[in-house]
Amino acid sequence: PHFEAVRTGAYTITEQYAAECGYSLMVLPLLGHVELRASYFSCHTDNKSPREVICEVNYMEVSVQREAYSPVPSQWQVMFQRDGDLLSPMNLSEARKQGYVIKLTDRRVVLRTAYGQPESFSVKVNGVPVELVHATLLSRQGWLVFMVDLVAACSMEGLYDSGYITWETPQALYPRLDSAQISVGLNGELMMQSVAEKRGYIVDNRNTTVHISIPYNADGGYRKSLVSGELYEYYILHLYVEQTSQKKDHIDTRLRFHGTLVTPLLLHPVFTENTVLEDRTFTVYLGDVPEDVKLAAVHVNGHLTNASVHTIVKVVQPNNTHGYTLKVPFDDPVVTQQFCKENATLLYRLDINYTLTVEPESNSIYHVASVMTLMDIPPAFYGQCYESGISFKLDHRPFDYLWEISFGTDLLTSELAAQHGYILSNDSQSLLLNVPLFTHGYQYNGFFATFEILMRDRETSAVQSSTVKTCPFPATELICSTDGTMTVVVDLSLALPSGGSPGRTSLLDNKCGPKETDDTRALFSFPINNCGSIIKLAEAYVTYENE
Ligand SMILES: *[C@@H]1O[C@H](CO)[C@@H](O)[C@H](O)[C@H]1NC(C)=O
Ligand SMILES: *[C@@H]1O[C@H](CO)[C@@H](O)[C@H](O)[C@H]1NC(C)=O
Ligand SMILES: *[C@@H]1O[C@H](CO)[C@@H](O)[C@H](O)[C@H]1NC(C)=O
Ligand SMILES: *[C@@H]1O[C@H](CO)[C@@H](O)[C@H](O)[C@H]1NC(C)=O
Ligand SMILES: *[C@@H]1O[C@H](CO)[C@@H](O)[C@H](O)[C@H]1NC(C)=O
Ligand SMILES: *[C@@H]1O[C@H](CO)[C@@H](O)[C@H](O)[C@H]1NC(C)=O
Repeated sequence: PHFEAVRTGAYTITEQYAAECGYSLMVLPLLGHVELRASYFSCHTDNKSPREVICEVNYMEVSVQREAYSPVPSQWQVMFQRDGDLLSPMNLSEARKQGYVIKLTDRRVVLRTAYGQPESFSVKVNGVPVELVHATLLSRQGWLVFMVDLVAACSMEGLYDSGYITWETPQALYPRLDSAQISVGLNGELMMQSVAEKRGYIVDNRNTTVHISIPYNADGGYRKSLVSGELYEYYILHLYVEQTSQKKDHIDTRLRFHGTLVTPLLLHPVFTENTVLEDRTFTVYLGDVPEDVKLAAVHVNGHLTNASVHTIVKVVQPNNTHGYTLKVPFDDPVVTQQFCKENATLLYRLDINYTLTVEPESNSIYHVASVMTLMDIPPAFYGQCYESGISFKLDHRPFDYLWEISFGTDLLTSELAAQHGYILSNDSQSLLLNVPLFTHGYQYNGFFATFEILMRDRETSAVQSSTVKTCPFPATELICSTDGTMTVVVDLSLALPSGGSPGRTSLLDNKCGPKETDDTRALFSFPINNCGSIIKLAEAYVTYENE
């Protein structure tokens, strides 16, 4: 940007002209703005004010009222004092050549100088380093000597301590400021004392030094993230302090300080926490990510992932940070499983490597987190009903040898399977067991048959888990169980006249009704030699018959 001061003409404000004429120009790309400040005594301003000292970011300025009848500029000489030494006097055009602007308006004398001029000097006042320029203007007219003393002293150093940026200024610089009023603000705007206090500003006056401490992350400052091995941040405050002293009922002296205070690089750690374990899912929250840092990539156990593979949700926090929630189910192929033999547990583990990128420079840092959880899990069969039985499937895992499969107290072996009529097939991948209906081990309940497989600890034989599968009976099945009970399900839909109820059917003995019925079926379960059964003896066997 290019600025001009316009009053009785247009004057381009160059860098040098700014420091000489009382302008400050700052381009603040991070805040997204440009700031132009003009001193009340800048070259192209009219003013009528008391004694003023300005410590700007690029110059110091002091102005005092002068006697209306004092000499014209060409008659003045200026003498600088440095560390108590008087330097040789020069006239104002010579001083101008040296970079000092000494301006005499109708009512005032103004001295303005950039920092670091040969005639200014650094000194410690009450232990606080300040830059000081001290000029004495002299004019002799006959026997009359006019003298104007101009002192500008600026403390430019900010300190950072325990979350505060502190700026100090020794009171001794301007002894007349004894009963000083101090107002503080940021970005060229002063705030009321009550507001400043509410925002945690501390202004105190000890050991004849004024200390102004502002929380490093105060509103109105701005922050920037930075990568230097780790994630850092720094804050910049454009401090504005105004100090005035009253003399009777008018302001005698006014000091204005504009300083840019920067914190050192502060570590800004992000954190991860494993929030919930419900639903057998890792839910990992990455938090405290600053506004200007983006999540660029996530690697889980070495595999690049993204929101279309796993759930990754951005969470915005009210304190100008944000976070990301990542969800990965335990059974996701990317999760590693490790078996721990001692306590028969399975360790699920997820190593996450977050790539965070600081904008706009696109510098990256990595944040790694490991989450793991222990699960106590014996193997589980997957059961499925089929027309004439239940099939059970078990996928082998390397550590499944710790358990044994049983039905009640019987261990599953190929002999046992053959004996009971179960169909067992077992390969390196999985074990498949087909249990036909009405074979040994079923429990019947109404129209349903239930089969249970137990997992026992191989060493202690304690039951650790079970798989229970219940399937509906198909119609027209007959079971003769070893305890002498006959169970039969009859489909009566064709036999009964419409409107007839299966509940009103019976066996040969009409006191033996069905145990269960629905709209079309009836289930009878009765001792084979009861309910009117007709018993026929043959040579090698007995037949029980009922209707
Ligand atoms: C100021 O001083 C310089 C050097 O001593 C001299 O050349 C110049 O003429 C003087 N200017 C005025 C206006 O007195
Ligand atoms: C006060 O300032 C003096 C001069 O710099 C210093 O020696 C002294 O330690 C300071 N006292 C306190 C309490 O800060
Ligand atoms: C997400 O990752 C998958 C697998 O790595 C990839 O095929 C896909 O293109 C990625 N999607 C986006 C939006 O990056
Ligand atoms: C921001 O807010 C979140 C949520 O309350 C909190 O976890 C985090 O610590 C806060 N971060 C900072 C830097 O204050
Ligand atoms: C994280 O990922 C980055 C880049 O993908 C890699 O350079 C870095 O070594 C990884 N960190 C760990 C601890 O795996
Ligand atoms: C099934 O096969 C696996 C692997 O071949 C073996 O470890 C296991 O003992 C077998 N189970 C039965 C019941 O035969």
